[in-house]
Amino acid sequence: MGAGPALRAALSPKGARAGFPSGFGCGRKAALRYKNALRTVINPNFDGALGWLVAASTRRVTSANIKPMSDEIAVVTENRPLAGGHFLLSLRSPSQALATRPGQFAMVRLPGRSSVLLRRPMSIYDVKTASNGIPKADSHASPEILQLLYKVVGQGTEMMAGLQPGDRVGLLAPLGHGFFEEDYLEEARRADEVLHVAGGIGIAALLLPARSLAERRIPQRLFFGGRTQRDLVALQDFEPFTGKAILATEDGSVGHQGYVTQPLGEYLKLHSSRRFLLLVCGPWAMLQAVVGLARRHGHRSLVSMENRMGCGLGVCLGCCIRVDGEGHGTYQRVCTEGPVFWSERVVWENETIAKI
Ligand SMILES: Cc1cc2nc3c(=O)[nH]c(=O)nc-3n(C[C@H](O)[C@H](O)[C@H](O)COP(=O)(O)OP(=O)(O)OC[C@H]3O[C@@H](n4cnc5c(N)ncnc54)[C@H](O)[C@@H]3O)c2cc1C
Ligand code: FES
Repeated sequence: MGAGPALRAALSPKGARAGFPSGFGCGRKAALRYKNALRTVINPNFDGALGWLVAASTRRVTSANIKPMSDEIAVVTENRPLAGGHFLLSLRSPSQALATRPGQFAMVRLPGRSSVLLRRPMSIYDVKTASNGIPKADSHASPEILQLLYKVVGQGTEMMAGLQPGDRVGLLAPLGHGFFEEDYLEEARRADEVLHVAGGIGIAALLLPARSLAERRIPQRLFFGGRTQRDLVALQDFEPFTGKAILATEDGSVGHQGYVTQPLGEYLKLHSSRRFLLLVCGPWAMLQAVVGLARRHGHRSLVSMENRMGCGLGVCLGCCIRVDGEGHGTYQRVCTEGPVFWSERVVWENETIAKI
């Protein structure tokens, strides 16, 4: 069946009963909800075949857990350049800032830039109150500003770097379930210390959890690794929560020379009688190494995964990773079941990133 007839069929009560994705419920209203989700998935600059590819790939969507989120046009209030091609982007979006929980992310669309088709996923680095559009730390007022900390690595982030105050950005947020508050706070309270372990721009996923742990007076420490000193940005934001960070750089320009697993391993060995919970975000190889190290020392880890994403909404299945499950395991979507997973659930062989 062609794409148009397929949607028409889905929109008819008969077609909807015939089994459009079950996560959207059933009946005509469900079909409309599904159609709207598809609209949101796709960059409105591109209104073509991708939607139908997405539609075709969703028959197995079973989850009803598309989170409360909204698709807004947010206004840039600041796009501050930092060292090493990093930027801190501040966007005015009060309802999304208010809804954000630690560990969630946003999908960024650049209106009018049709050369970048898909939205780009970015961790929500921080939420702030604002004074004349300038972010301000004030824990008593409602947050209005949502901040993204990003590194320029390709065309999409290069375009983001060109954003100026007053520019508009499409923002689908907040997405993912974040750091499962009930679950991880219980584990964090049982630990003697929470260890944040970040590799490069992975640091962006860890500020909100650090703040929420600090509010609960849970002791924490930051281990931060990168290729060079210029990769270790935003340290001053963490210091009030984690104290002085333990740093590692591959070129030895600051901290330990080598990977962050070296000082982390020494720390775990030195404090072998203590109980730690690790919150980890960074490249796959680093996650794999840190999780292995923590496991050998008997500690649990939560990992924030960064996979390539198509929709961010659980529809396209482009972001799946392999997790423990029946038989040879099963796949879960980083965008909806994640991006944060208990490390023991993830199947850590390199080839287990879903090839779709
Ligand atoms: C949940 C999540 C949260 C993220 N949070 C942040 C963040 O806070 N700050 C930040 O700078 N980046 C973050 N990323 C990565 C970011 O989405 C990519 O860097 C961005 O999409 C690259 O877009 P681009 O057009 O500039 O680069 P592209 O031209 O698309 O790619 C350039 C290079 O980056 C690699 N790349 C692109 N996307 C990813 C990805 N998702 N994971 C690993 N490698 C990738 C490509 O393989 C290629 O080598 C996050 C990704 C996910 C999934
Ligand atoms: S299902 Fe589309 S990005 Fe996760």
